[in-house]
Amino acid sequence: MNPLNHVAIIMDGNGRWGLKYKNSRNAGHKAGLNTVEKIIKGSIKNKISFLTLFAFSTENWKRPKKEINYLFALLENFLVNRVEELHKQNIKLKILGSKKFSPKLNKLLNNSEKKTSKNTKLQINLALNYGSKSELIDAFKKMKKNKSSISEKNLNKNLQTKNIPDPDLLIRTGNTKRLSNFLLWQLAYSEIFFEKKLWPAFNGKDFNRIIKDYKKIKRNFGKI
Ligand code: FPP
Repeated sequence: MNPLNHVAIIMDGNGRWGLKYKNSRNAGHKAGLNTVEKIIKGSIKNKISFLTLFAFSTENWKRPKKEINYLFALLENFLVNRVEELHKQNIKLKILGSKKFSPKLNKLLNNSEKKTSKNTKLQINLALNYGSKSELIDAFKKMKKNKSSISEKNLNKNLQTKNIPDPDLLIRTGNTKRLSNFLLWQLAYSEIFFEKKLWPAFNGKDFNRIIKDYKKIKRNFGKI
């Protein structure tokens, strides 16, 4: 059976779920946060060490201001109300992406990372204002500046995901089959599961079902 150390998730479908059931895209984001809580619990139960969640892409800034503001208010609330509890559960929070938010949110994010930095049970990487192409470009710029030789090892060291193993499993909910500029380098050998359910409808049982199927796969990393 395959070990499962790192799960990455593209949490897609909030807007469609919200419009269908509550006549509001934002209601879908709110419901999506409940699924985040379920999957954090599921990750602990399944003894997963790293959970990476794509919460906001560099492209998501093109959405209406009202939706962007709602998403960041939801995130602020989550940080204010939940980080203490995550800390008690020995969970580490790390932000991927560039922190170009309001001074208040930047401070909350930095404090949350600092507070939980020594925790060891589960590391949650929250990708916010994250785009894989710009992460790669930034890494190459740093390597050029430091006159590092170009190698896989050096590139890994210069990515925001340094010290984080590559995902074993990527799940994308929402019945869409694309990577949306998420961890393009790091997903090179990940097992990819595209899930029909929209993110707010996804639950612990669905997560366990995918994990069970993942564990049965023969991963050969190019070998036979
Ligand atoms: C994609 O669905 C989802 C997002 C852009 C936001 C994800 C945010 C959450 C799950 C809640 C906030 C999370 C935290 C940790 C505070 P979409 O809106 O693109 O859905 P659609 O494809 O149906 O339009």
